[in-house]
Amino acid sequence: MHFIVVFLALGAIPSIVAHATPSPPSSWHTPHRGSAILSNFSFDSGETLESLKIHYQTLGKLKVHPDGTTNAILILHGTTESSTQLLTASFADTLFNPGQLLDTRKYHIILPDSIGHGNSSKPSNTGLRAMFPRYQYNDMIRAHHALLTQHLNIAHTRLILGVSMGGMHTWMMGEAYPNFSDALMPIASTPVQISGYKRLWRKFVIKMITSDPAWHGGAYVEQPLVSLAGALSLVQTMLSGLVSFSMQYTTRDATDKFAEALLLRVKEFDANDFVYAWNSSHFYDPEPGLGLITAPLTAFNTADDLMNVAELGTLERAVEVQMRKGLGKAVVVPTSNQTFGHGSYIKAKLWEHELRLLLAKTDAHH
Ligand SMILES: *[C@@H]1O[C@H](CO)[C@@H](O)[C@H](O)[C@H]1NC(C)=O
Ligand SMILES: *[C@@H]1O[C@H](CO)[C@@H](O)[C@H](O)[C@H]1NC(C)=O
Ligand SMILES: *[C@@H]1O[C@H](CO)[C@@H](O)[C@H](O)[C@H]1NC(C)=O
Ligand SMILES: *[C@@H]1O[C@H](CO)[C@@H](O)[C@H](O)[C@H]1NC(C)=O
Ligand SMILES: *[C@@H]1O[C@H](CO)[C@@H](O)[C@H](O)[C@H]1NC(C)=O
Repeated sequence: MHFIVVFLALGAIPSIVAHATPSPPSSWHTPHRGSAILSNFSFDSGETLESLKIHYQTLGKLKVHPDGTTNAILILHGTTESSTQLLTASFADTLFNPGQLLDTRKYHIILPDSIGHGNSSKPSNTGLRAMFPRYQYNDMIRAHHALLTQHLNIAHTRLILGVSMGGMHTWMMGEAYPNFSDALMPIASTPVQISGYKRLWRKFVIKMITSDPAWHGGAYVEQPLVSLAGALSLVQTMLSGLVSFSMQYTTRDATDKFAEALLLRVKEFDANDFVYAWNSSHFYDPEPGLGLITAPLTAFNTADDLMNVAELGTLERAVEVQMRKGLGKAVVVPTSNQTFGHGSYIKAKLWEHELRLLLAKTDAHH
């Protein structure tokens, strides 16, 4: 079960709907897949897992420079997604090919599946279901760091880049491990706690499932399909761009077809995994620690992102007021026929120019 982004004529409407096979790599080679087992992993909740599996994919070869810096780039995926979402046309084929910005002949790319996601340990694949530890973003970034430092022997990264939840993880990693990365690029995120509109629909998603009698406290035999479908619908509504979706679906029939196709896919999802994933940002709040960040950072959002309200200027204010002077840059691009709501993050063409500038600014010895 995984969410995949589907690409339609008008750019792309990110969809949890259609099965799009990840496009075959044009010339970047097949990723190497691996798993790290983190023993006796302690969660902030006080719970422990004797054996936490973190699955990851890598591209390119690691190079360690004499001064300890490396060519390693950590790229982090969004909520309920996995590393596989990044191995798609809009992302990988724009960045990883020879001559492109993150050419895998030059860089070592690491794409982990976060705790609770993809092929890493999660409620549905451990048999623990609703007994799975109540993981939070703090646990997830500790696992990212342990994967690199303990399992892959990478003590320093050239760049940490994350999208959506991965963007939120990027702010947190910049604070928790200030000298770990040369540069940071959070995309489609805001460094403030999940409140207001962002909290409202998450709360609905979680409550819709957990208050459904068919959920049985997470011990269901059959998925609670009705509440899960409701939750999926709400997530899709938040992911879509108000303008782009309405521009693309201009007839009643096309829109209904889209909605019905989405609802048919509900059986691919697991209710516990879903609830855990959307609840893992409960304690997210990098705002008070923004001054701890020491690496140059460029944050990128689009104005039509319903999850990160551009009108409030929160991103710009956080970067300009709360980060150390001159370190941060906030870019919010206006709604256009190139943006498509929150999911615009997957379209690397939108932000690769900003990434190029950030890499140039932090290019000490590469
Ligand atoms: C994990 O904890 C258990 C129980 O405390 C202990 O028996 C085991 O040796 C630990 N494993 C590792 C790898 O530390
Ligand atoms: C999990 O791994 C299997 C093969 O080992 C792969 O086919 C599948 O796409 C992976 N799923 C995710 C979400 O990464
Ligand atoms: C990075 O910071 C940690 C903890 O503050 C410190 O132990 C380590 O030596 C530092 N590494 C470098 C390369 O400065
Ligand atoms: C969500 O996370 C918080 C913090 O860990 C926890 O108190 C709460 O029980 C969780 N809710 C669900 C439904 O798992
Ligand atoms: C997108 O917008 C630009 C500028 O507003 C316009 O020139 C272009 O034709 C539009 N493209 C499409 C496909 O509508």
